[in-house]
Amino acid sequence: MASLSFAPQPLTCRNLDSRARSVQSRRRGVGFCNFKLVAGGGGENGSAAAEPDLSVTVNGLKMPNPFVIGSGPPGTNYTVMKRAFDEGWGAVIAKTVSLDAAKVINVTPRYAKLRAGANGSAKGQIIGWENIELISDRPLEIMLQEFKQLKEEYPDRILIASIMEEYSKSGWEELIDRVEQTGIDALEINFSCPHGMPERKMGAAVGQDCALLEEVCGWINAKATVPVWAKMTPNITDITQPARVALKSGCEGIAAINTIMSVMGINLKTLRPEPCVEGYSTPGGYSSKAVHPIALGKVMNIAKMMKAEFNDEQYSLSGIGGAETGGDAAEFILLGASTVQVCTGVMMHGYPMVKSLCEELKDFMRTHDFSSIEDFRGASLDYFTTHTDLVRRQQEAIQQRKAVRKGLKSDKEWTGDGFVEETESMVSN
Ligand SMILES: Cc1cc2nc3c(=O)[nH]c(=O)nc-3n(C[C@H](O)[C@H](O)[C@H](O)COP(=O)(O)O)c2cc1C
Repeated sequence: MASLSFAPQPLTCRNLDSRARSVQSRRRGVGFCNFKLVAGGGGENGSAAAEPDLSVTVNGLKMPNPFVIGSGPPGTNYTVMKRAFDEGWGAVIAKTVSLDAAKVINVTPRYAKLRAGANGSAKGQIIGWENIELISDRPLEIMLQEFKQLKEEYPDRILIASIMEEYSKSGWEELIDRVEQTGIDALEINFSCPHGMPERKMGAAVGQDCALLEEVCGWINAKATVPVWAKMTPNITDITQPARVALKSGCEGIAAINTIMSVMGINLKTLRPEPCVEGYSTPGGYSSKAVHPIALGKVMNIAKMMKAEFNDEQYSLSGIGGAETGGDAAEFILLGASTVQVCTGVMMHGYPMVKSLCEELKDFMRTHDFSSIEDFRGASLDYFTTHTDLVRRQQEAIQQRKAVRKGLKSDKEWTGDGFVEETESMVSN
C-alpha cells in the first residue's frame, strides 16, 4: 500500500492537502470533493450510504471497473476473453497480433517462476515470473473472427486489440484496417515486447528508439480511427522520453509497463539457465509481484511528465505490473492511472480474482470516503519531490518542532539568569 507517512490521519476527501485538492478541482471542473456519503466511511448524519463507484470512462471508453486484462495468455482466444467478460473484468486487451503469425514460433517450456523463501524453495510464494513467450502464434484471420464474435456478443464491453508489426507503413496500415473492421474499441500498440524479433524492428526495438517510434506512431495515428494506447518498455533509461514521443505523435494513452528484461536463474545442478529449452535459454520478460515497485516508479515518472506537459482530460495512463490486490491497483490510481492491467496475476489466480480486486478497491475507497475513482486519481503524485527538497523540508520541520517545544518542561528548569526570557517563552500572546 502507498504509505502516506506524516499524514496524521487517513487521507480522505476532507483532508487531502491543498495541492491534491487542486488536482481534483481541475479534473472535475467543480469544487473539491463532491463526494456522496458512503457505507462504513463515516457517512455524515447516518444517512443511507452509496456504494463506491468503480466505473471509469477512459478516452471515451466506458468500463464498469478499472480492471483490465493485460495482453498475454489471459486474452489469447475467444474462450478465455469471453470468460473475462463473464467474470466482470472492466475491459480485455487481447494477446498481441501481427499480420503473419506463421513467423511466430514459440518454444516450451517458456515460463519460469521465482519463489520467495529459502533458496528457491518449491513451497515459497511466487513473487516473480519470467516468460520467453512471443506474441500470438494464432492465425490473424482466426483472431479477427473471434474479436468480431466477442463484440457481437458483448457490444457494451470494451475489447482492445494489441497489435505489433514490422517496420513497414503499409503493413501497419493493413493491420490497423483489418483489426478495426472487427469492431474493437481501441488499439494498444506493443512497442515493448522485450524478447524475440528485434531484427524485424518489432516491439521493444521500436519503443527503445525514439526516432523510429515517432515515425511508426505517425503512421499508426494517421490510420487509426479508435483511441490508441502506446505500451512502453521499462528496458530503457528514461521511460518518459518514448512516452512523450508517443503522445506528441497522436496516441491517446500510455500503458506501462511491459515485462523487464531478465534471466530467471541458473540451475545449480545442471548449470543451465532457466527456462531451459534443449539445454539453452534466452533472456526473457520479468513480471508479477516483484516488478510492482518498479512499475510504480515508471508510472509515477510518466504521470508527472504527462501532468506537466499534456492535458489531463485528453490523455490516459494505464498502470501495469504485479497488480494482484485492490491495494496494488489503488497505488497505480493514486499515481494517476485510470485503469490497471493484470496479466500474470490472472495466470496464477484465475479470472474470478476480479471480484476480490473490486471488493478490495471499494474497501480502500470506503476507508477514505472516496466515492469515485476520479476522487483519488493522482492524489499521491504531488508527494514526490527531489531529494534536495526533502532535505529542505526536513530542516524546516525540525525548526518548527523546536519552536513548538519552546517553554519549560518542568519547574526544575527555571534559572536565575534567563528568568525573564523563560517567563516570556510561556506567554501565549
Ligand atoms: C506469459 C506472458 C505473455 C505476455 N504476452 C504479451 C503480449 O503478447 N503482448 C503484450 O503487450 N504484453 C505481453 N505480456 C506483458 C503483460 O501484458 C504485462 O505488461 C507484464 O506481464 C506486467 O504485468 P503483470 O505483472 O500483471 O503480468 C505478457 C506477459 C506474460 C507473463
